[in-house]
Amino acid sequence: MTNPHGSKTLNARFVADAGRRAALEAEAQRLPSLVVGSGAASNAVMLGSGYFNPLSGFMNLAEATSVAEKMALPSGVAWPVPVVNLVPRDKVTPEIRKAKRIALRDPNVAGNPVLAVMDVAAIEDVSPEQLSFLIERTFRTTDPKHPGVADFTAAGNVLISGPIEVLNFSYFPAEFPDTFRTAGQIREEITKRGWKKVVAFQTRNPMHRAHEELCKMAMEATGADGLVIHMVLGRLKPGDIPAGVRDASIRKMAELYFKPGSVMIAGYGFDMMYAGPREAVLHSIIRQNAGCSYLIVGRDHAGVGTYYGPFDAQSIFDELPPGALEIEIFKADHTAWSKKVGRVVMMRDHPDHKPEDYINLSGTKVRELLAAGQPLPPEFARPEVAAILMKHYQEEAKK
Ligand code: ADX
Repeated sequence: MTNPHGSKTLNARFVADAGRRAALEAEAQRLPSLVVGSGAASNAVMLGSGYFNPLSGFMNLAEATSVAEKMALPSGVAWPVPVVNLVPRDKVTPEIRKAKRIALRDPNVAGNPVLAVMDVAAIEDVSPEQLSFLIERTFRTTDPKHPGVADFTAAGNVLISGPIEVLNFSYFPAEFPDTFRTAGQIREEITKRGWKKVVAFQTRNPMHRAHEELCKMAMEATGADGLVIHMVLGRLKPGDIPAGVRDASIRKMAELYFKPGSVMIAGYGFDMMYAGPREAVLHSIIRQNAGCSYLIVGRDHAGVGTYYGPFDAQSIFDELPPGALEIEIFKADHTAWSKKVGRVVMMRDHPDHKPEDYINLSGTKVRELLAAGQPLPPEFARPEVAAILMKHYQEEAKK
């Protein structure tokens, strides 16, 4: 199986020992505490789940700046995005400033339970210029309309950094009991299934014919014996399909249209950043930590609006030094149903085709059809998948 990123063994920050966890819970009640932002909370869940191996906690300003500037930690290990706990200045109380250890509370669960305990290594003010630099390098824009930029900017301008010990996985296990999995759990399942070569598919959307065929093409081309459909379960932007509906539609597709036993469906607790190319590199590290051999990166991976070129999330991998990652990228071209050959194809394989030779529906068109109760073309979506989505849109329309 593929090694974890940057270390030989997986260093998940969740405290697996129940006794130690109980002791930390008790200690946390006495520590100064802070309700963190949703981005920092999802970073904590990722650190706890082993997906952010080899990080042990939140980056300081020098680390975050190094990552933003060079796509590497000061140690040289490749890392594409700042993993930071940014806090508004008025929340940094004198008690927190004096503390060696603090409790990080969960903003996404009622009552704000403690999510993690942190050894405070540094508390640093971040100047507007420093913050802009982090944002510009990470997102390739500082446009406040970019949803990831908006979240990052709103988080605050004091950086509290240091290693953390994670006590739970926030709302993810309760809300997605069949789907939320840690990197270690995926590794165990890969071993149990005896898979040797595993392709990972990142998604935040339901899967249509093009996505299904894309996964099958990647498995065929790489000789993989397993596919992990690994979906993001954290916060999305308004208009994205809720995780539960997406999960149900993906399970239906896998059940009906893939070889039995060839697909694992799992999810991870992270808020989408929509950072396009940089997020694609993060996605590859997440899958390497989960033991996968390849990550599919297709068209406009992790993108939003028109901030990124359609294949920027592929070319960024050429900027990494050789050997920076062990996982390999399956670079996919735009896939769609060809009316000429009567199946889903990759456009680069059919240079003779014109745009009108493909069946392509925009997200807006898909939503319109489903909300109006009209079926999607079977060349575009499997009918059983479309039925699940239609039910969701019709319920939404009634609200
Ligand atoms: S993402 O933000 O999670 O990357 P999405 O769920 O839309 O978004 O896409 C999942 C993966 O499928 C990404 O690698 C994306 O590039 C790829 N993809 C989606 N649609 C197509 C398509 N029609 N052709 C090629 N690749 C695609």
